[in-house]
Amino acid sequence: MNKHIEIEYKILLTKKIFHKILESYSHDDGYSQTNYYFSHPSFQQKRYMLRIRKKNNTYELTLKRPYQGEKLEINVPLTKKEKDAFMHHENISNEIIDFLKSENIFIEDLQQDFSLTTYRYDIPLVEGILSLDINTYLNQKDYELEFEVYDKKWALLTAGDKESFNTMTISWGGLGTIWGKKVATVYVRPNRYTYKFMENNDYFTVSFYGEEFRNDLTTLGRTSGRDGDKVAKTSLTPKFLDKSVTFQQAEITLLCKKIYGQDMDLECVPQDAKDRYYNGEPMHKMYIGEVIDIL
Ligand SMILES: Cc1cc2nc3c(=O)[nH]c(=O)nc-3n(C[C@H](O)[C@H](O)[C@H](O)COP(=O)(O)O)c2cc1C
Repeated sequence: MNKHIEIEYKILLTKKIFHKILESYSHDDGYSQTNYYFSHPSFQQKRYMLRIRKKNNTYELTLKRPYQGEKLEINVPLTKKEKDAFMHHENISNEIIDFLKSENIFIEDLQQDFSLTTYRYDIPLVEGILSLDINTYLNQKDYELEFEVYDKKWALLTAGDKESFNTMTISWGGLGTIWGKKVATVYVRPNRYTYKFMENNDYFTVSFYGEEFRNDLTTLGRTSGRDGDKVAKTSLTPKFLDKSVTFQQAEITLLCKKIYGQDMDLECVPQDAKDRYYNGEPMHKMYIGEVIDIL
């Protein structure tokens, strides 16, 4: 099970504009997925969305609901058996179903509304993933552009080479432009083992993962490479690039050339951040990396 806040932008396109955009980016062959939507008398008022997604013969149950002004998405993988049981209103238990029960919403009262099949092309960009979708539902076809920004995603910061590298989870950072270059900015405390690798190497990678790797990213953000091979405790496999290192399971990797580094100055930090983040903990060092490749 995983939870995350989603920031995405969507817009409907005409068929002509859709193909024009698709042709202007390099893209792979795309893939197909089908969503089965479920309704309940209370969903509209609560602004809940419940669906099962079938992709490559795997199934995932998703509940999206309003939370503190944003949208909270909960995803739970289902086996085919669980999916069939759910479709037939049989009782199964998981985080989403238990949550709905606590709101007096029971499986037997859910109705399967319609299904939507999407053929999707994913195009990785520095700021996020641009997806171009052809949706087919109720004998209708529409063309949609979706842009999911990286803002709230966790990532791995990795530096080093085949001989020796280290990685750690990061959630602070930014993507933008400076000195006419597309850049990724990261913040690393010097007590991280990764710091030494950031200092000793000219390149680093920032890589993003699907929600199914959230536990691995938690492990890499709670343990130190100083204490042993923490990557071995995860399902990730290192992928050695010419200039740096990432992992085979990454959805997107930004290969960055270090162009600037500066220790942050406690004097310039707002009081609330001083109290919260620097009470005895060392200051972060800021690194700006020029994004020289997106893999
Ligand atoms: C979600 C999450 C986000 C994190 N973001 C940062 C960050 O932006 N900068 C940082 O210095 N540490 C960050 N950390 C902490 C490091 O990932 C953590 O201390 C890690 O164990 C360091 O590993 P290392 O000693 O092998 O470098 C984060 C941890 C988590 C779980």
